[in-house]
Amino acid sequence: MKQSGNPHSALRTPHSADAAHLRIVFVGHVDHGKSTLIGRILSDTNSLPEGKLEQVQRACAAENMEFEFAFLLDALLEEQEQNITIDTTQIPFKTAKRNYMIIDAPGHKEFLKNMITGASSADAAVLVIAANEGVQEQSKRHAYLLSLLGVRQFCVVVNKMDLAEYSEVRFLEIEKKYREFLQTLNLETNVFIPASARFGENITARSTKMKWHKGPTLAEALDGMTPLAPPTDLPLRFCVQDVYKFDDRRIIAGRIETGMLQVGDELVFSPANKTSAVQSIEHWPITPPEPSARAQDGTAIAGDSIGITLREQIFVERGYVGSHSKDAPIETNRFHADLFWIARQPAHLSHLYTARLATQEVKCQIVSLDEVMDSSSLERSPTKADQLARNEVGRLTIQTRAPIVLDNHDRLPPLGRFVLVDDGMICGGGIIHGGIYTDRGAIKSKNIFWSEGKITAQARAAQHGHRGAVVWLTGLSGSGKSTIAQALERELFIRAMHPYVLDGDNVRHGLNSNLGFAPEDRVENIRRVSEMAKLMADAGNVVITAFISPYRADRQRARAIAMEGNAEFIEVFVDAPLEVCEERDPKNLYKKARAGQIREFTGIDAPYESPIDPEIVVQTNQQSVEESVASILERLLPRLK
Ligand code: ADX
Repeated sequence: MKQSGNPHSALRTPHSADAAHLRIVFVGHVDHGKSTLIGRILSDTNSLPEGKLEQVQRACAAENMEFEFAFLLDALLEEQEQNITIDTTQIPFKTAKRNYMIIDAPGHKEFLKNMITGASSADAAVLVIAANEGVQEQSKRHAYLLSLLGVRQFCVVVNKMDLAEYSEVRFLEIEKKYREFLQTLNLETNVFIPASARFGENITARSTKMKWHKGPTLAEALDGMTPLAPPTDLPLRFCVQDVYKFDDRRIIAGRIETGMLQVGDELVFSPANKTSAVQSIEHWPITPPEPSARAQDGTAIAGDSIGITLREQIFVERGYVGSHSKDAPIETNRFHADLFWIARQPAHLSHLYTARLATQEVKCQIVSLDEVMDSSSLERSPTKADQLARNEVGRLTIQTRAPIVLDNHDRLPPLGRFVLVDDGMICGGGIIHGGIYTDRGAIKSKNIFWSEGKITAQARAAQHGHRGAVVWLTGLSGSGKSTIAQALERELFIRAMHPYVLDGDNVRHGLNSNLGFAPEDRVENIRRVSEMAKLMADAGNVVITAFISPYRADRQRARAIAMEGNAEFIEVFVDAPLEVCEERDPKNLYKKARAGQIREFTGIDAPYESPIDPEIVVQTNQQSVEESVASILERLLPRLK
């Protein structure tokens, strides 16, 4: 936490939340004329600063160089670089219809960097393809990356038509090829415009050299696109950038990515799950747009950079995410993503990267790589490989060292995207999918507080010689959970560790004796066990649980609960075909279930949802108990150090 300092300067934000702007990203292969196109559009729409065109023309003449529109862009960018308050990649222009903000994306790296700062939340994209060179791999990659980020409105400028003799045939050939590609990405608006940025053909003025083109000019096409509404109707995500201390007040500074908040709102801050009400909202006077009446009426909305004070002084730091408790984000240490890799050095399984997501930074590893796709051919291949090469997209699972707060990208994009950093360099960017939301607002009594113990987890681990953990066995009745749990417990015990088995049948004799097997009872059974396992792991034990735990969401919650206590969580799928379990029938229960004497028996007339990607799978009809235990130990022991 900062002890003092000027929050105004830290919060200067280049990001304009002005909904009247249409934010367009320009992308294109090097040399396809993107800079010329931007220079031309600024010039032809009279959007250049007074005298800029003449100044650049004079500079060219002085150096005996032919004037090029691309130089205009260079000159503007150079100027902006000296002006630290403006984001160098944003350039405004206007047509008669409305204002625009160009987000220039020189390359993948810059683009990915912008992607997490929000600058890339473009309403539309202009893709530039040179008529003489045609569709290149890079042209496809850019489109893929944009579609991955959720940009849906595209306008394709087939530039340099002057070098292709303004040929309709050539234009149609490129259009056909690229349109086919864009279709595979499910993109909606695709306008194709034959143009020459150099000679100003079909940019703002209709070309007389390409009378065959019946579609719009670039300016007309842009005017036809729709700005996205600011995401105020999504759940609140207030991403904390810093905490400033003034006298005895603490101002929590950050940006509202989505939703809105009001003075008096009860906020829950993840990952610590601490709650407090908003006492006041401070809008920084320089934040564009100018602080509106909203500031006075105590409301702030998506796009606002604000500082808030809270009624209770709870611990909050950079990276925390404030939300309303009924719509909280996911808090996890494991998530699924599609990751686009740009670094020369391939991505390796188990290499330690840093994930940056909103204002969070967390160390992480890629723990499984399920599918790899080439970003220009879009060919997919299931993989057993352990690396992801440059320009490939991997469908994979990431495990973080500390809890991370996130959302699924299709639900809430700003918290659904991240980049991976290695050695200070951005290596890839991804979007998150398939995360499960759990209800964290379910505490009935308000007047309970979590009391932090004085003995730290590290101190306990030092005394025990290992960390606390939860090894979660799941599988059908008769699959062998209890047998494996007991054998594993013994193996750990003889290593002078502190294991303890929590077993379905045993727990149902005591703590959970009031629960049956109806779905809601099973949910409650697993919830209690999850909480108990967390406490025991917090005490430093290696808790081995043996419960059918048939519902995926419950196991996901068990993981989240263990994570809150900073315990390792390892899901083991004890897998045996139903026929085998039924054949074993150690307690004669399958027979009874078949005979209708027991109702809602898992596998017979109640469901079992197999894990999608457990850390470990043991196949008890193929492996012996010893083999199963050995494979668990192999993965478990390194994580207890
Ligand atoms: S869970 O579904 O809530 O996770 P749990 O693991 O606690 O189940 O208990 C399962 C054990 O209870 C089984 O191994 C079996 O011995 C016994 N049992 C009794 N009735 C049922 C039933 N209807 N479905 C599953 N297990 C049952």
